Amino acid sequence: MGIPVCIPVIPKNAKKYVDAVIDKNWVSSLCLDEEVNYLKKLEIGFSGFVGVKYGTAVTSGTAALQLAYAVLKICPGDEVIMPSFTMVATASAAIHSGARPVFVDADKDTWCIDVDKIESLITKKTKAIVPVHMYGHPCDMERIMDIAKKYNLFVIEDAAEAIGTEYKGKKAGSIGDIGCFSFYANKTMTCGEGGMLVTNNENYAKRAAMLKDQAFGQPRFIHEDIGFNFRMNNLNAAYAYASFEEVSDYVAKRIHNAELYNKFLSGIEGIILPPVSKNGLVNSYWMYGIMIDRNKFGMAKQEVRDQLKSQFGVETRDFFYPMHKQPVMLKRGYAKENQQMPVSERLWEDGLYLPSSTNLKEEQIIYVADALKKLKK
Ligand SMILES: Cc1ncc(COP(=O)(O)O)c(C=O)c1O
Repeated sequence: MGIPVCIPVIPKNAKKYVDAVIDKNWVSSLCLDEEVNYLKKLEIGFSGFVGVKYGTAVTSGTAALQLAYAVLKICPGDEVIMPSFTMVATASAAIHSGARPVFVDADKDTWCIDVDKIESLITKKTKAIVPVHMYGHPCDMERIMDIAKKYNLFVIEDAAEAIGTEYKGKKAGSIGDIGCFSFYANKTMTCGEGGMLVTNNENYAKRAAMLKDQAFGQPRFIHEDIGFNFRMNNLNAAYAYASFEEVSDYVAKRIHNAELYNKFLSGIEGIILPPVSKNGLVNSYWMYGIMIDRNKFGMAKQEVRDQLKSQFGVETRDFFYPMHKQPVMLKRGYAKENQQMPVSERLWEDGLYLPSSTNLKEEQIIYVADALKKLKK
């Protein structure tokens, strides 16, 4: 039985909606036919799901982040505090804005930014904190918002991995000034490539819509700002909307799969399970990650990954390589050679994620758990 790490679900209405867009010939980001204006339906639907007033669809989660930095006028000379343990886009989008990323270690229990370490890194140049809800587990948003308020900083939630994640009754992405989502193929809801910037602030929403569209002004072709082309097209939006219609089901299935993994993996010595939902925090388990304690399991992470693949056909992925260790961050002076962030480093050394498709079957989860049991020495 070969099990890939993630296969996207093709939504029931995907073909119907994409066909309708083609039939009516509204394929770009401009659509004057309300019936097939899937961009509008998606923006209204998804922002409603997150519980915010405004959403603007873009071409990727990375574009949403870049747009967020631009909306908040983050620019050269500014510093942006973010976790070292994240996907590179959190940092690269900040760097493209001209700002300097300032990396913080992860919390050992949640794998998200260690909030205790934020305040000491704040300087006169700090403009924003960018919490990343890692693998679907929410950051400690209350404390992050308190720090942001105290020092007058923006909060941009990188919610790329957190569709359906909840923090004390609020959805991830709805708590900071701006939330950024990804609809990449392995994300809980997808259209292949895509994303959305969400906010409750009308001015930010207007600025995001303007900047993603080349900062066209009135009259057209007169520009008062430098924009981007981050427009999602209506074909992608049609697919995304079909996926959005099923999003609650997808979230529930990923959570259910994680609960099954928790059940079948618990008790295997040397396997550290992912952070669970508790105290009003809902982990949406975008990916089901585990850590391998090599001494107790009798094998290091890399060997576990290799054996799972070669002996059992089970695909896995490494956790992210921390930003403070990345050659490019060292070369550019955003990190120092001897800088140590033990939790992020351990996550990289010992962390992997297991097959996490929405439609994974219980027998596949049992198969993966049994494979791990057989590998344990
Ligand atoms: C934490 C995080 N931020 C940003 C992104 C970028 O999203 P996209 O791949 O849609 O550009 C990802 C993508 O996986 C991510 O995991």
